[in-house]
Amino acid sequence: TIKGVLFDLDGVITDTSVYHEQAWHELADQLQIDWQPAFAEQLKGVSREASLAVLLNATGHPNDYSAEQKAQFATEKNDRYLALLQQLSPAAIAPGMTAFLTALKAQNYRIGLASASKNAPFVLERLGLSDYFQARVDPATLRKGKPDPEIFSRCVALLGLQPAECLGIEDAQAGIQAINASGAVSVGIGAKDVLAAAQIRFETTAELTLANIRQQLK
Ligand code: G6P
Ligand code: MG
Repeated sequence: TIKGVLFDLDGVITDTSVYHEQAWHELADQLQIDWQPAFAEQLKGVSREASLAVLLNATGHPNDYSAEQKAQFATEKNDRYLALLQQLSPAAIAPGMTAFLTALKAQNYRIGLASASKNAPFVLERLGLSDYFQARVDPATLRKGKPDPEIFSRCVALLGLQPAECLGIEDAQAGIQAINASGAVSVGIGAKDVLAAAQIRFETTAELTLANIRQQLK
């Protein structure tokens, strides 16, 4: 039986993944790195540092940049991202998400946050959703990022559950891989070609209801 739900944040609870993408795109332009369409999916779920490495590797000479320069680029990307978040309000909560969280809470499911973003507490606060989450993994404490299962394994443990008792909800390929490797049940939000590895999948969060999940779990 499912007793808990582990949530990714960006691209699941709210569409901030488009702001991450835009901020990286702006940084790439600034560094004269050609923006490749594949970056959009590759950067989802991936930490700030690992995302920067993807961009710099695409130059073919990532070692030309010093540690100080890389830290500076990561800060610039985050400044751009935070500027894009200025208007963030409860209006940006993904369709159906408040109803889903409310239903989970009413039926005593445990709710955890498994986001790689160091901005996650701020984003949840701005959306007015902080109080739904009984546990949050601090991404600064992780040894490995998604697709490693660590963040989901830690979230399951914080909720006091077993992996098979949890659903993990993700929009990123790396995230679905991480959930599957953790032993939780993966729920993908997005296109089938991208999220083929998800055990359950919905096109959008508007379809994310306990009834629809139960139907696909059979
Ligand atoms: C999430 C997003 C990624 C982002 C990462 C780190 O996983 O999907 O696009 O790079 O968080 O976010 P941060 O806010 O810490 O830079
Ligand atoms: Mg995501």
